[in-house]
Amino acid sequence: MTFVVLEECIQCKHTDCVAVCPVDCFYEGPNFLVINPDECIDCALCEPECPVDAIRAEDDVPHDQAAFIQLNAELSVHPGWTRITVQKPALAQHAQWAGAKGKLEQLDRNGA
Ligand code: SF4
Ligand code: F3S
Repeated sequence: MTFVVLEECIQCKHTDCVAVCPVDCFYEGPNFLVINPDECIDCALCEPECPVDAIRAEDDVPHDQAAFIQLNAELSVHPGWTRITVQKPALAQHAQWAGAKGKLEQLDRNGA
């Protein structure tokens, strides 16, 4: 199993999750973070840290966000997406996007 970052993270990137991950398996794009499923050790430390509740265990991912399981795997090795090990300020627009639905169309797949 692995943990998965869901659409709530898009346009927010609070990065509290990064601060607690013991294996540094978060990867960063311009407006989203993902977890590398091959590196995650399922410790569950990150899930309660996210202020917008964007992280779930793979088995608890809601049906309408099932695509994010593959998306985390894909983007964690996507060219230009880089490992993030230190917490940093959330994106400037985070409050405006908190709780919005259908944010997948906002996802910027380019490298950070
Ligand atoms: Fe990192 Fe643990 Fe979260 Fe996996 S479950 S991403 S190892 S903090
Ligand atoms: Fe994203 Fe939440 Fe981490 S918004 S960057 S999953 S703390």
